[in-house]
Amino acid sequence: MQLENKTILTGVKPTGTLHIGNYFGAIQPMIELGKKSAQSHASHIMFVADYHAINAIKDPVFLAQTTKELACAYLACGLDPNTSIFYKQSDISEIFELTTILMAYTPKGFMNKAHAYKAAVDKNMAKNEPQDAGINMGLYTYPVLMAADILAYDTDIVPVGKDQVQHVEIAADIAGAINAVYEAEVLKIPTSFLKEETQVVPGIDGQKMSKSYNNVIPLFGTDAEIKKAVMGIKTDCQDINAPKNPDDILLYHIAKGIASKETIAEIKEGLEKGGMGYGTIKKMLLQSIQDELGEKREKYNYYMSHYDEVEDMLQQGAQKARAISGAVLNRVKNHIFNRK
Ligand code: TRP
Repeated sequence: MQLENKTILTGVKPTGTLHIGNYFGAIQPMIELGKKSAQSHASHIMFVADYHAINAIKDPVFLAQTTKELACAYLACGLDPNTSIFYKQSDISEIFELTTILMAYTPKGFMNKAHAYKAAVDKNMAKNEPQDAGINMGLYTYPVLMAADILAYDTDIVPVGKDQVQHVEIAADIAGAINAVYEAEVLKIPTSFLKEETQVVPGIDGQKMSKSYNNVIPLFGTDAEIKKAVMGIKTDCQDINAPKNPDDILLYHIAKGIASKETIAEIKEGLEKGGMGYGTIKKMLLQSIQDELGEKREKYNYYMSHYDEVEDMLQQGAQKARAISGAVLNRVKNHIFNRK
């Protein structure tokens, strides 16, 4: 991806406690991208999408907690608020003004096709409920708010997972529609960048790692919590000395997601030859987690107990963000209201 002088933007919803899969799959790659952006004179923008979260989360204490955890986690893992613009979506009122503007240029049919809404409808149909049961307008118009998130900064590139590509396309279509009406580049057309599939870390029972399956290794748990999760990784009862196919062994799949190349190779060899016990492998995994995250965990605990410092950083980020989004919003209003 060419980053030179580009604006790269990512948003993350604060939906729940973070696990190791989130770290290796999303947090770490995003922070790497932030570093690369700084080296390439690109602007890197990263925000906590707390307004997107309220479609689903109505408990204010829970939402405040997940927002806090997410902000502290990104900072602890190395997001640099001096080189990346880092803020909470709810602090940028321009986003919501722009959302209202975008609504007027967004065909309703776009929303009917958006997959988050479609998935919710399919769920209702499967349960024989009315198709829109429990679906609020926030969920229905989710892609318009997301378009405003993106378009408010003249974003060039939005790195996303597969499930978000459609949303970026909708943002590009809305921008294109507005540009066509005013025959000018009112808004910059963004493109998505499909993130490489990183090695997915399975859960400790072998299913997808997810809080709802209760099979996670917590990212910033206590030593005891992390140890309990790792020791609980499902194993079979093959003889310790039997040569094994590493691909059949869950511990090996988890190792591939979280350990260094050397450790992965050592485990692979130990399993193929036989003689390396599952207890030993679990200890190696614990050590890998400690090596990768020990220091970050300390920083995380620091930020969590000094959240006023984090909030300051977020407010400074919001100021930088509003300088950009304010200018873009003005430009848009100048076009549509014929202001000079
Ligand atoms: N919808 C994204 C997700 O669920 C989060 C998000 C909100 C986002 N606004 C964004 C991502 C803007 C990229 C750009 O993961």
